[in-house]
Amino acid sequence: MKDTLLKIKTEAIAALAEDGADIEALRIKYLGKKGELTAVLRGMGKLSAEERPVIGQLANDIRAEIEAEIEKQSAAMKSAALDARLKAEKLDVTIPGTKVPVGKPHPLAMVQRQLEEIFLGMGYSIAEGPEVEYDYYNFQALNIPPDHPARDTQDTFYITENILLRSQTSPVQARVMEKQQPPIKIISPGRVYRSDAVDATHSPLFHQCEGLVVDKGITMGDLKGTLEMFAQTMFGADTRIRFRPHHFPFTEPSAEVDVSCFACGGKGCRLCKGEGWIEILGAGMVHPNVLRMCGIDPEVYSGFAFGLGIERIVMLKYHIDDMRHLYENDVRFLHQF
Ligand code: DAH
Repeated sequence: MKDTLLKIKTEAIAALAEDGADIEALRIKYLGKKGELTAVLRGMGKLSAEERPVIGQLANDIRAEIEAEIEKQSAAMKSAALDARLKAEKLDVTIPGTKVPVGKPHPLAMVQRQLEEIFLGMGYSIAEGPEVEYDYYNFQALNIPPDHPARDTQDTFYITENILLRSQTSPVQARVMEKQQPPIKIISPGRVYRSDAVDATHSPLFHQCEGLVVDKGITMGDLKGTLEMFAQTMFGADTRIRFRPHHFPFTEPSAEVDVSCFACGGKGCRLCKGEGWIEILGAGMVHPNVLRMCGIDPEVYSGFAFGLGIERIVMLKYHIDDMRHLYENDVRFLHQF
């Protein structure tokens, strides 16, 4: 019996040490209720009284040894499995990552945002108006009656006789004044439309930004100071501005405003076509008729207004010679800004 026990022990330990041994199956085989060691112990009744405790002791020792081996082998297998997993899941942090392409704002949006920041900084708020507009706001409330020749230069798309795609952001002036008594200090950037054929400097859809200030005692001096501040922030601290007399039906007096050429400083170059000055916007003192039509008393209040084309500013600032680039969504072009 002693030999059988020792044989079980040798076999069990050898089997447990084998590569890929099924430890649980071996445990059942040797130590389980129907296992080999148990079978031997069952036969102990046949032993003599002297032999019984000796064999019993030996059987217990062997059981303990096999259990210890099981413990040892299963710990070794667990750690080998962990090693293998760590190796398989190894992360090489030096491999370059997958680049996610990042977009950026369109140059038109960039300049619009800059415009907004400049005027918000001067205490203006941003007003919005509809792109599908009444003839009344786009023209009549701005002192442009139905047969006024100024309509010719702003031919647009009509939805009905009285509803059109706005040809300028100026109607927002009338909408704001109608709702709000002075003090008023707003800008209104947005899309406008005209029935122009597409070429390097024209598009049936483009963007403008309107400005309007109405309060007691507003003068042309305020307009000049405001536009100078704007021009210097947008084009550089050395920029000068110049007013040229002009006519707009909704302002009196009216002016076209030039900035000193920011490419040559005013000496004359290709950008300013040798002039030293570049036209950037229209402006003037709000016409008393406009104030009156919007319910503001021109005897008490006065105001100035201005309107600029955002495409024009973008093209000047970034030396873009063809407006169509701004609408073609070619990323090779758009990535340059
Ligand atoms: N709305 C004019 C245009 O589209 C631009 C303009 C000129 C706006 C003078 C104004 C202004 O507010 O005072 O040509």
